[in-house]
Amino acid sequence: MPGTRFTDIRHFDTIDSTNRYLLEAARAGAPEGVVAVADHQSAGRGRLGRRWEAPAGTNLLVSVLLRPELPVDQGHLASAVVALAALDAVDLELGLELMVKWPNDLLAADGRKLAGVLAEADWASAAPGTPPAPPVVVGIGINVNWPDGDTDLPDELAGTTTSLRQLAGRVVDRERLLGALLGALEPRVADLGTVVGRAAQADALRARCATVGTRVRVELPDHRFEGVATDLTPEGHLVVESDGVLRTVVAGDVVHVRASPGG
Ligand code: BTN
Repeated sequence: MPGTRFTDIRHFDTIDSTNRYLLEAARAGAPEGVVAVADHQSAGRGRLGRRWEAPAGTNLLVSVLLRPELPVDQGHLASAVVALAALDAVDLELGLELMVKWPNDLLAADGRKLAGVLAEADWASAAPGTPPAPPVVVGIGINVNWPDGDTDLPDELAGTTTSLRQLAGRVVDRERLLGALLGALEPRVADLGTVVGRAAQADALRARCATVGTRVRVELPDHRFEGVATDLTPEGHLVVESDGVLRTVVAGDVVHVRASPGG
């Protein structure tokens, strides 16, 4: 993408995972800004060790290599800027306003999932310093032209998942969307390098976060609890009020819980 740091864009018909590919490239010394985009992934990675599946040639499956000098506790902002750039791109290309479900899902206005983001830091090849700065690969999978009808989805996804094609009512050009995403990402990544810029990105995330103000169930590896998400911290972590206590959630899964009628 001219005028940005994302000029080395590597396309693959099929690859196991664009995140895996760029993590290896990072270890071999690839510079910030390398992009990997695939028509199909045979072992696409999702959050929390899940798989990310999509039929060939339908969705945008892309990863970017970043080398941000982020304070350790602000690592979440690296994935947040990619989610925010995707919102910008969808707004610019299709005039659709999406929201972020914490930590990093993109939701349509009706709450159905449209995209997921997975950030993987490579601590083994972190640049020395205090604090050490690891390269981070941030991958996003956006449902662009799949599904093209409700019947195309596997049963477990029907009703909870949608695509740009469904929302816009037409086939969407994936290359244009990628260009818009990388264009929007450039200033957001530049912001990661300054205190003021990081605060601006955290504010932008808060403004577009559908989770804040919602009743949630937080699922942690060893337990779960319910409460109301009241805010995001400057690091992009979720604040949940549960039984009168404010708890900060750094990582985990969150389910938006619908209030029961009258409750
Ligand atoms: C999630 O679980 O919601 C995150 C899914 C992230 C999927 C994308 S597709 C491109 C990149 N390569 C991968 O292997 N995963 C990410």
